Amino acid sequence: EIGAIIFDLDGVITDTAEYHYLAWKQLAEELGVHFDRTFNERLKGVSRMDSLHMILDHGGLVLSEHEMNELAHKKNEHYKSFIQQITPNDLLPGILPFLNEIKAAEIPTALASASKNARPVVRQLKIESFLDTIVDAAAVKHGKPDPEIFLKAADQLAVNPEECVGVEDAEAGVESIKAAGMYAVGVGSKNAMAKADWIIDHPSQLTLKALRGHLG
Ligand code: BG6
Ligand code: MG
Repeated sequence: EIGAIIFDLDGVITDTAEYHYLAWKQLAEELGVHFDRTFNERLKGVSRMDSLHMILDHGGLVLSEHEMNELAHKKNEHYKSFIQQITPNDLLPGILPFLNEIKAAEIPTALASASKNARPVVRQLKIESFLDTIVDAAAVKHGKPDPEIFLKAADQLAVNPEECVGVEDAEAGVESIKAAGMYAVGVGSKNAMAKADWIIDHPSQLTLKALRGHLG
């Protein structure tokens, strides 16, 4: 039986992964660093500062801490301008029916998001009532791929990790779920989601029936 379902936010519940991509791409190009979707896959699920470090390494740039803080701030201002417009219409197709199904089945749910913007996004999507707890970047010491964020969510729900299902669109996120000893659903390409237990192209494929079928 499914003890709990723990969702990533960006790229699973809503398409904010695209906004993170666009905001990082703009910043990277201003810095003269080549940036494409293949490189962006590695940034998914990774904290703001760690992402910036990866972009700077990628471009062979070394900057002071002060400069890095300014760049991270700039990226976030750009990102915040994108998310201002989010409404419940921005829930990815299939997510609302799945949340309703989970609620009806009385399965505990949590959000495990590496984003410091997770709470405002959840509020704008109007899905607070579907989530029993939210663990965001501010609540953990170690970001994805470390298991801390998914383990903390399970702990807050008082459910054993082995009974939890995690849903992710990031390589770092799937690693985090697996390291936590949970069942991983990966949303995305077979290549990027190789380590997931069940790979789907799109969140609309999420139903309890399909999930239970795969859990066996
Ligand atoms: C994750 C995204 O959810 O949050 C990453 O997948 C992002 O792309 C990270 O970098 C941190 O987000 P924020 O909003 O704290 O900069
Ligand atoms: Mg994500």
